[in-house]
Amino acid sequence: MKLILPGGTGQVGTILARALHAAGHDVVILSRRPTAAPWRMVPWDARSVGAWAAELEGADAVINLAGRSVNCRYTVTNRRAILESRVQSTRAVGNAIARAQQPPRVWLQMSTATIYSHRYDAPNDEASGIIGGGEQDAPDSWRFSIDVAKAWEAAAAERETPATRKVLMRAAMVMSPDRGGIFDTLLRLVRFGLGGAVAGGRQYMSWIHHTDFVRAILWLIDHGEMEGVVNVAAPHPLPYRAFMAALRSAWGISVGLPATAWMLDVAAFVLRTESELVLKSRRVVPGRLLSAGFVFQFPEWPAAARALCDEWRARAR
Ligand SMILES: NC(=O)c1ccc[n+]([C@@H]2O[C@H](COP(=O)([O-])OP(=O)(O)OC[C@H]3O[C@@H](n4cnc5c(N)ncnc54)[C@H](OP(=O)(O)O)[C@@H]3O)[C@@H](O)[C@H]2O)c1
Repeated sequence: MKLILPGGTGQVGTILARALHAAGHDVVILSRRPTAAPWRMVPWDARSVGAWAAELEGADAVINLAGRSVNCRYTVTNRRAILESRVQSTRAVGNAIARAQQPPRVWLQMSTATIYSHRYDAPNDEASGIIGGGEQDAPDSWRFSIDVAKAWEAAAAERETPATRKVLMRAAMVMSPDRGGIFDTLLRLVRFGLGGAVAGGRQYMSWIHHTDFVRAILWLIDHGEMEGVVNVAAPHPLPYRAFMAALRSAWGISVGLPATAWMLDVAAFVLRTESELVLKSRRVVPGRLLSAGFVFQFPEWPAAARALCDEWRARAR
């Protein structure tokens, strides 16, 4: 298949490009700053339709991942870049598809599981999930992330693409052993004995193993009935306390010092990121993938964590 990945140079794009290229697919990444890679890299400005749009002609799928990283402090400047980079790049992709002579078969548009509300009581699936933003106790930065997600999805909806099936992927954190990724960061806490509960540890962690993420993408490309919003997350999210206990056990360490919310806020400031990434309760389940018959290779976190630790160690050798 010919697969186009706008914004495919980041954490998720690298996971996908590596796996799809190894499986023999023709992978093309659209980047603002193309560098040498085992697959083709094509320049784009992530804002307007340009020469890059020719790559979409006759492609099997466009998987749009572009957006300024959210792993930073939510200053006014960063907030604007986080929002505009997603809305503008998504519009550009929609416009290019709408103008194509031979439009791609599928447009998989990245969104985020963060769009759902901060809650402990019940899981959010696509049908009954509660969209966030109305929580009484949520800090302003959490509302911002939800506003971004809504604007991102709205930008994807602006263009009718009658010949191209459109899927909005509300993805959970993609766990891979890559250095600098989310799993690597959580594992670093564990390795330094700091992987205890944070702020009580009740908040849910939604996650997906990178193997299942790639499998779900290929499955969504193949399944013509899958259109609209799809949660891309493992079926068993779990509270942070249990999540980190399983990671400690997978790594083979018993100590995990707890941290309170204010300690995390200080650490987040020093690390230039937002504590929302671990404090918000994300309880998201893949209702549509499961009911349509997708089978997860890693449905449960303890086995996924063991496999990820093995992969991480193999790379460290
Ligand atoms: N990582 C996860 O687990 C996860 C989970 C749910 C949703 N998501 C979302 O999925 C997308 C991909 O995630 P990721 O972790 O791979 O992100 P990432 O590592 O930050 O990469 C995103 C890519 O977007 C491009 N980009 C950065 N700033 C941009 C800007 N100002 N304008 C246009 N493009 C820009 C970059 O490509 P170039 O510099 O090459 O142009 C970058 O490689 C993101 O939008 C993220 O919010 C990620």
